[in-house]
Amino acid sequence: MTVVAVGPGDPQMLTLRGRQAIEDADLVVGFKTVLNVVEQWVKQGELCPMSYRDQEEVLDYVQEQVRQGKSCVVCAWGDLNVSAKELLERVHRRAEHVELVPGVSSIQFACARAGIYMEDSLFITLHKRADTGSDLDELLHHLIQGMRNIILLPRPFDLMPALIGANLIEAGIPNARPVIVYQRLTLDGEQSWQGTLGELAASTEEYSDLSILVFLRPNQEPD
Ligand SMILES: C[S@@+](CC[C@H](N)C(=O)[O-])C[C@H]1O[C@@H](n2cnc3c(N)ncnc32)[C@H](O)[C@@H]1O
Repeated sequence: MTVVAVGPGDPQMLTLRGRQAIEDADLVVGFKTVLNVVEQWVKQGELCPMSYRDQEEVLDYVQEQVRQGKSCVVCAWGDLNVSAKELLERVHRRAEHVELVPGVSSIQFACARAGIYMEDSLFITLHKRADTGSDLDELLHHLIQGMRNIILLPRPFDLMPALIGANLIEAGIPNARPVIVYQRLTLDGEQSWQGTLGELAASTEEYSDLSILVFLRPNQEPD
């Protein structure tokens, strides 16, 4: 099995290596939105769309096909080392050898749009099924420390930007703390919004499930 990271939405951000693997595969598996990005590169392979509900069954089917000698590509959104652990673990449970083809992450685009560097930044994801309590504690800790930019993935749809803003204010972060929200990076309708935590908490906007929050390090020294 091969896992190919397809990039943050724009099909042009798929790597050449990833595209080759998809073209050569007998089966191409992924969530429907992910397959939409790469469908145009599927030549001969069977498309196996999955949803959160049936992913275990679809991956079981794929495992059986691999046992019978077929080659399979599982597609992952963005990069595969960024908030894709649950999917990767499901694949690893089903194959002894998994080839990984990394790609471009949405958080790289957030860095590029914000003009910040990964080495000055910290990445926290709330986009997981597991309990996010300790992630929120860490977020609070690092916001107070102010040593790094913080790139934060919300969780659709129960831990979205406005609620995160309200929770942080309740936990003592000042209303005036600046924050940026990027939505649908590289896709039609891409948006960026810049304001304060207070404004974010008060906003009634419906944020896309493709949203990223960036908190710039306070008093950034100019390079
Ligand atoms: C399960 S995580 C997967 C991240 C992915 N592996 C990556 O590297 O971009 C999905 C979350 O990533 C963020 N995301 C992914 N693509 C995005 C995009 N094009 N624009 C904004 N946020 C995006 C959103 O926070 C979304 O809820």
